[in-house]
Amino acid sequence: MKYIYRIAAIGLFCILFLPAESALAKSPSHFGPFKPINISHRGASGHAPEHTFPAYELGTIMEGDYIEIDLQMTKDGELIAMHDETLDRTTGETGMVKDFTLAQIKKLDAGSWFNETFPQKAKPDYLGLQVPTLREIIEQMGPNARYYIETKSPEFYPGMEEKLLDILHEYNLVGENQPVGKIMIQSFSAESLKKIHQMDESIPLIQLLSYYAPAIITNEEVAKIKAYAVGIGMHYTAISPGYVKKVRDSGLLIYPYTVNEKEDMEMLLDWGVTGMFTNYPDRLNEVIGKRMP
Ligand code: G3P
Ligand code: CA
Repeated sequence: MKYIYRIAAIGLFCILFLPAESALAKSPSHFGPFKPINISHRGASGHAPEHTFPAYELGTIMEGDYIEIDLQMTKDGELIAMHDETLDRTTGETGMVKDFTLAQIKKLDAGSWFNETFPQKAKPDYLGLQVPTLREIIEQMGPNARYYIETKSPEFYPGMEEKLLDILHEYNLVGENQPVGKIMIQSFSAESLKKIHQMDESIPLIQLLSYYAPAIITNEEVAKIKAYAVGIGMHYTAISPGYVKKVRDSGLLIYPYTVNEKEDMEMLLDWGVTGMFTNYPDRLNEVIGKRMP
């Protein structure tokens, strides 16, 4: 039964992700009965080291709909999965990703920090885990996986968007005759998203927004964002029921991050969000599962 809903949800996503204008005109009222999407934030990073294959595989096993991938670029132009611009927090090496070649980064250990930081979740398998490249993730996670990719600090990485689209085309994840919705691309950088939109309008884009006070969005901001994106993302503590309603009524999708507690997940679903990021896709799957007839 759940599988039928998933197919229906993907079908809706395909309907939704026609070139932004027409999809938005169609979408608003169709969301009620559909399954909100469950996005494994950096993989199932509450259970395994972020941006490693154990985290991605767990995210899929726990029925996350998308694997979130933060992209950085190495000195020799390779796209790798890593949240920070520096190697310090998750590899123990010191320095900027952009100052290291892929070969140097491949020698680093991207798992031990997790065992040290979360001894209660530590596993010997996490010792010595490598930093994956985007290509390796696509090859290892297979054709059925869906990816929610974030261009991180694109200002540091000239040509990152072109390299990203080249890889996505090479693996037939985007482009003509490809099912739309397998890939979503997000960024805090509107410039980065507009560049991607210019290169390929069919890719659903999500504008990330930073709020340092209760979130407010104006009609002008909504109109600007709708010119290239189909939705927005922000920290869940900044938003309110009124904010969610305004965004949904405008036809934009809304994906708050990073929601790890069930009561917060329930609250946001009650408000009508179209999905959310979580380090615990298993918990969100349970919460959503209970709501699906
Ligand atoms: O996309 C949601 C979220 O990933 C943005 O924040 O810092 O976790 O990349 P961050
Ligand atoms: Ca991210």
